[in-house]
Amino acid sequence: MNLIFLGPPGAGKGTQAKVLEERFGYRQVSTGDILRANRRDKTPVGLEAQSYMDRGALVPDDVIIRMMEPVLDAAGNVILDGFPRTVAQAQALDDLLRRKTKFAVAVLFDVDPDVLTERLTARWTHEASGRTYNTIHKPPKVPGVDDVTGEPLMQRPDDKEETIRTRLAVYDDQTAPLIAYYDDPSDPRLVRVDALAPIESVTEQLVRLIKSDGFSRNGAPA
Ligand code: AP5
Repeated sequence: MNLIFLGPPGAGKGTQAKVLEERFGYRQVSTGDILRANRRDKTPVGLEAQSYMDRGALVPDDVIIRMMEPVLDAAGNVILDGFPRTVAQAQALDDLLRRKTKFAVAVLFDVDPDVLTERLTARWTHEASGRTYNTIHKPPKVPGVDDVTGEPLMQRPDDKEETIRTRLAVYDDQTAPLIAYYDDPSDPRLVRVDALAPIESVTEQLVRLIKSDGFSRNGAPA
C-alpha cells in the first residue's frame, strides 16, 4: 500500500512519515527534501526550484513530475510526502501508478490552520537526515543539537512568518482541491487523520489505518 500524505505546511506529514519509515519499512519520498538536496548540490533542478521555494510558491509541475517518475520505479511501498500538490500532478501520478500497476491511498492530515504558523516557526531540522524537532512540542534533548548525530540543527529559510503565509495561501488555492479529487464518490481513495492531536496520537491513528481497519482489501478506504 502506497500512501500519499496530503495536508498543509506544518500538518505533521514529515514527522509521521519518518515514524512509519522506521516502524513499517516504508520509504519516505519527500519532494521538499529532494528539492532541498538538489539546491544544496546546485543541480539544474535545484537552481530552477530555488526562487519558487524561497518565496513559498510551488515549483512548476513539469519539473516535479520529471523528478518523481524514476522515484516510483523502485520496489517497496512509499509514502509520498508533499506530492502531488496540484490536480495536474495528481493526474500525472495516477498515470504513473497505472503504468506501474501500483495503488495509493491519500491520507489527509486534518488540522486547524491556526496552529500551523506556531508549529513551523518553532521547527528545527537536522539537514542531513530531514529529522525535525519543535521547541514547543518535540524539543531535542540538547537545544539546537540533533539527538542522533549530535550535529547542529537549522531553521528552514521558508519558515519565516511572511513566507509561511504565502505557503498556506498556495495550499488553499492549489493543493486543497486534491481533497475532492481523492474523495470522489465514484472512486474514493481518501482517509483522514486528526492531525491536531499530539504527535503520538496521530501515529496511533495511522498505525490503525495501516493495520487495515481503515483500508479495505483492494486498498480503498473502508
Ligand atoms: P515541503 O518541504 O514539502 O514543505 P511543506 O509541505 O510546506 O510541509 P512542511 O515540511 O513544512 O510540513 P510537514 O507537514 O511535513 O510538517 P512537519 O512534520 O515538519 O515543501 C517545501 C517547498 O518545496 C514548497 O513550498 C514548494 O516550493 C516546494 N515543493 C515541494 N513539493 C512540491 C510539489 N509537489 N510541487 C511543487 N513544489 C513543491 O511538522 C512541522 C512542525 O510541527 C515540526 O516542528 C513538528 O515537530 C511539529 N509537529 C508535527 N506534528 C505535530 C503535532 N501533531 N502536534 C504538535 N506539533 C507537531
